[in-house]
Amino acid sequence: MKKNFINGEFVAGASSTKNINPSNIGDVVDLYAKADRAQAESAIAAAHQARCKWGNGNLQARADALDLIGSELLARKAELGDLLAREEGKTLPEAIGEVARAGYIFKYFAGEVFRQRGDKLGSPRGGVDVEVTREPVGVVGIITPWNFPIAIPAWKIAPALAYGNTVVFKPADLVPGSAWALTEIISRSGIPEGVFNLVMGRGSEVGQAMLESPHVNAVSFTGSRSTGRRVLQTTAQRFAKAQIEMGGKNPLVVLDDADLEQAVDVAIQSAYFSTGQRCTAASRFIVQRGVYGKFVELMGARLRALRVDDARLAGTQIGPVADQDQLDQDLHYVGIGKDEGAKLICGGERLTREKDGYYLSPALFADAHNGMRIAQEEIFGPVACAIPVANYEEALALANDTEFGLSAGICTSSLKHATHFKRHSEAGMIMVNVPTAGVDYHVPFGGRKGSSHGSREQGTYAAEFFTTVKTSYTFSG
Ligand code: UN1
Repeated sequence: MKKNFINGEFVAGASSTKNINPSNIGDVVDLYAKADRAQAESAIAAAHQARCKWGNGNLQARADALDLIGSELLARKAELGDLLAREEGKTLPEAIGEVARAGYIFKYFAGEVFRQRGDKLGSPRGGVDVEVTREPVGVVGIITPWNFPIAIPAWKIAPALAYGNTVVFKPADLVPGSAWALTEIISRSGIPEGVFNLVMGRGSEVGQAMLESPHVNAVSFTGSRSTGRRVLQTTAQRFAKAQIEMGGKNPLVVLDDADLEQAVDVAIQSAYFSTGQRCTAASRFIVQRGVYGKFVELMGARLRALRVDDARLAGTQIGPVADQDQLDQDLHYVGIGKDEGAKLICGGERLTREKDGYYLSPALFADAHNGMRIAQEEIFGPVACAIPVANYEEALALANDTEFGLSAGICTSSLKHATHFKRHSEAGMIMVNVPTAGVDYHVPFGGRKGSSHGSREQGTYAAEFFTTVKTSYTFSG
C-alpha cells in the first residue's frame, strides 16, 4: 500500500484504491491510500504552516532540491516510464519521453529560482524610490488529470516550489502510481516538512477541501470542463487565484499545397498518438478539396496498419484507452458519428488482445461537417473526423468555429497562408507543419475560449500565476 505524504511523513489513508493496468485489467499495479476530507485539511494546514519559512528561505537549497529531483527522474526514466505505461496505457517510448520531460522541467525551474527579477524605478514625487517585486502566492493546490501522470504534475509542482510556494497535490484517482513515485523522490530532495504534500483521494473530498479552504491561496487545475467550472466558481467565491486548463477540439488544416506525406504523418501523430488522450490532440482535419480524397485514403491505410496492443509491448504504436468509462465514451461518439451521417473510414471497434484491456481501433470519419457533434464535442480518444473545404478562407473559418481554443495546426507550403493562420487563428498555440500535440517545456502552454482560464503555464510565463506582485515605495529624502 502506497501512502499519502503529509507534513514530511507517509501516512495511511482513510481507505484505499486499486491502480489497474488498462492493457491488462487483471494486473493490479498496487494499492494506494485514499484520503478523506480531514486528511486533506491536515495537509493544507501543514503547507500553510511551512509557507513563510520556505518562501523566505535559502535559494540555493531550493534550486539544489529541484535539480536533484530532475536528475533522479532522468536517471530513472526507463523504470518510471514502465510504471507510467503500465498504469495509464500510453506506449513505453511515449511514457519514457514523458518522464524525461518531467525531469527537464524540474531542471529548468531549478535555474529559474535564480532568475526572479524585480524593477526599481523613480517616482513622479521627488525623493521617493519605487520597487516592484514578486513574492510567492502561499499555498498552492494542484489538481492533475490522468492523461499525463507525471509531466503535468511536474509542470505545476516545479514552478510552484521554485517561486517559493508550498504545495498540496491531488493526482487523478486513475493514475496515483507516477504521482506517488514523484512524491517519494521529492521526499528525499531536502525540501523541509510541510512544503510538499501528496493527498490521493476523491475530487469530492480532497479536491473540494482544497477549493474551499481559506488557507489554499491558489489552485492550478487541469482536467474536464465541468470540473474546471466548479474549480473556478468555488475559488472565485473566496477570491483565490485559479489557473484552469481544460479540453480542446483542435483543428488541423491541410491545404492543397501541403507536402501530403508530411501532412498525413502530422495528422496521425496529432490525433492518435497517446491514444488521442491529449487536450492538444487534433480531432478535426479540415482539408482542401484538391487533396481531400487522397488524404482520406492515405490516412485510412496508415491507421489500419497501426499496431494497437499492450502499452509495454515492443512495437506497439497505440496503447489502450485509459479505462472503461473512457472506452464507453469513445464508442458512444463513434455511434453518434454514424447516426449523424459521417462516413466511418476505419476503426472505432473494440479489439481483443492476448490480455483483457481497453483496446480500441483508431477511428476516422470522413465527409463530416463542422456542425456535427463529433466535430464540436471533445471525445478524448483515438477518434477524429475529416471535413472537406473549398479554400483557405473556409478552412480558417471552420478552424475557429468551436467553443475551444487550445492548439490549431496548419499543413501548407505557403508562407502567406501560414502567416495569416498564425495571426488569425483563435487558439493559444499555433502549429505550422508540426503536430498539434507534443509541446516544449520552456515556453507558455495554454489556450483561449473554453480551453483555458487564467494565466499561462510553463516557461517564464508560469511566474504570472505562481507569484504575486508587490509595489513598495520608500521616501529617501
Ligand atoms: C502535449 O501535448 O505535449 O492534458 C501536452 C493535456 C495537456 C498537455 C498536452 N494539458 O493533454
